[in-house]
Amino acid sequence: MKKPQWSQPDLAADQFLYQRKGPWPQPSPSYPMEHAPEILNIPPVETLLWNQAIGSRYFKTLTFYPGGAAANAVAGSQLPIPSDAEFVRMMTNSVHARCLKNVEGNIWVSRFYAMDLIADATLQGTYSWPVNCVFSRNGDQFSCVSINVPVIAQQQLEVRPGDPAWNLAKAYALQGASYIGLFVVHPALHFPMDTVNAITKTAVPHTHPLFQLLSAHSSYALAVNNAVLETEDGVLSSNPPGTWFDPLTATGLVIKRMFGAGYAGLPERPDLYPKYNYMTPWMDTSIDYGRCLSLYFEPFLSFCTTVASEILKASPNDTYVERWANYISANLYGFPDGKEIFVPGVLAKALAIYMWDVTVSHAADHYSYANDITPQAPGPAGTNLAAWKFLRLRVPPPKELSDGAGVKLVGDVCEPDDLYRAEMAEEMFFKSATIWPNLFDTTYAFTSPQLLQAQLKFHADLKIISGKVAAIMPNFMPLVAGDPEDPKYSERYSRTISASIQY
Ligand SMILES: [Fe+2]
Repeated sequence: MKKPQWSQPDLAADQFLYQRKGPWPQPSPSYPMEHAPEILNIPPVETLLWNQAIGSRYFKTLTFYPGGAAANAVAGSQLPIPSDAEFVRMMTNSVHARCLKNVEGNIWVSRFYAMDLIADATLQGTYSWPVNCVFSRNGDQFSCVSINVPVIAQQQLEVRPGDPAWNLAKAYALQGASYIGLFVVHPALHFPMDTVNAITKTAVPHTHPLFQLLSAHSSYALAVNNAVLETEDGVLSSNPPGTWFDPLTATGLVIKRMFGAGYAGLPERPDLYPKYNYMTPWMDTSIDYGRCLSLYFEPFLSFCTTVASEILKASPNDTYVERWANYISANLYGFPDGKEIFVPGVLAKALAIYMWDVTVSHAADHYSYANDITPQAPGPAGTNLAAWKFLRLRVPPPKELSDGAGVKLVGDVCEPDDLYRAEMAEEMFFKSATIWPNLFDTTYAFTSPQLLQAQLKFHADLKIISGKVAAIMPNFMPLVAGDPEDPKYSERYSRTISASIQY
């Protein structure tokens, strides 16, 4: 019997990974109108893999890390509130720079307006507040002008460096950057991609080059995202005090209000929180962090252009590409439909966005959050201190310039238990923990010589870009781990760009 071709329109179910009974997007159970669609039925084999590779790491951390977390928490509480230089470094030369927008001339603002969505429902004794942080920019140098704290409707307290309230305002700005990053921006990298992931696995035959390309970057995400969204005692706990590690200032259901700002957008502030659009991911080249993300996009686009043209050369109106695009566009804002996908360049771009999002764009955020939003020296546990994330604040936001005058140390605004939890969550959920094979070691099940060649070129191109990126931002996530004989090789490997969403 002749082997069926991947482009044949009537392939039998046995030519699909899950016999066409695989995962599929559904409306989010908690916020169906605001959140990206969710995959609620995870293939059992993917849950097994998650338990073995990721769940087991959580249990190890819970068992063996509490002593280290406590030592770091004590050291963290004695840290000063970051100096202005450290504050500007963190806000402008890290993942936090995703919030920076040029408003006019040399004035740049990070607005944390969406903090308002949780400010009325924080845990007792903790506070959050939608502050704005204003910077001026001279060449590549940013300096802080003011932190504006809304006091009553239409009125803001403008706190400037040197004001008694300045340290407290900086803690609120760093808290805003953490929460907007973790719960508005980062979820928009995670959850929309599940729709592409699931539909590729269910509706594209496993011999199709599109499947072969994307499945290499889709191993863990469905189970990871399901664990984040649907586990009652996970990082978004329904009872934070009842866990040992939830460091957040509100329950999971309240925190999840912020996810909607990154997907459905906020209708009252479309300028700050527009509706998600799959085809226009953030890579602002006027900021170093965005420039690095944009440079990395080039090799993905070039690789995907070759794969797309091989697909369309063999099968110009490929039925599986058409169905794939129609299924996804029915679920995901901005995704091209079964007609648009055949416009020249569109299939390549849609493929490249998926691959780049779930590898570089996602992993670099975790790396930067763990390695940049921290003092330069590690804590007593040998890991980076989480104290400057200010995930819980115990002092209300300033209403007058004289408020918070006594705030000098992290321990003046956070309790030791808050910091202990932040250290546990850092080790479990926030830091990167890349599993082999990373992006650079990923290979594809292509059986065509042209595509095998394209894969080799992709790896060579990634290597060249990683050099360019390191020259712009030496602190950007590395692509490779260096010498395998180095005793720290496996630790370094865990901080290289991952092949998929796995943390
Ligand atoms: Fe993540």
